[in-house]
Amino acid sequence: MKTLLDVCKFLKAAGTYYLATVDGDKPRVRPFGTAHIYNGKLYIQTGKKKAVSHQIAANPNVEICAMADGDWLRIEGELVEDDDRAARVSMLDAYPELKALYDADDGNTQVFYFKNATATLSSFTKPQETLNF
Ligand SMILES: Cc1cc2nc3c(=O)[nH]c(=O)nc-3n(C[C@H](O)[C@H](O)[C@H](O)COP(=O)(O)O)c2cc1C
Repeated sequence: MKTLLDVCKFLKAAGTYYLATVDGDKPRVRPFGTAHIYNGKLYIQTGKKKAVSHQIAANPNVEICAMADGDWLRIEGELVEDDDRAARVSMLDAYPELKALYDADDGNTQVFYFKNATATLSSFTKPQETLNF
């Protein structure tokens, strides 16, 4: 796991990852699947109507956990909304199935990129690897 592309590939291989947010003094976690590299950054997608979006707005510190082939990846960092339409379009083009639910101009679709993030890849058999991005 040397590059951000490796991190994104791991998330795609896992298929589903779990995104934890902070809600006041309580953790919240739910399955997510979107992972996309755009302009050299790792993006995820959600809808502004969702509780997860409100939690990120109040506190952008999140953590992701995913597992694939017995290894697990955690990403901790801050999410920054990218309100550039091209970023939303790029995400929806990467996940055409989302176009049944979302549109770049619907006022709901929202994409975030990670900043000040650390990805840690762990395994029962291999040394831990980290990447800061
Ligand atoms: C496999 C899977 C992948 C999902 N991927 C996403 C995603 O990338 N973005 C998203 O907003 N919701 C996604 N969802 C739906 C969210 O898990 C669901 O809307 C959840 O309730 C949002 O969290 P909240 O209720 O705290 O707002 C996915 C659900 C599943 C089962």
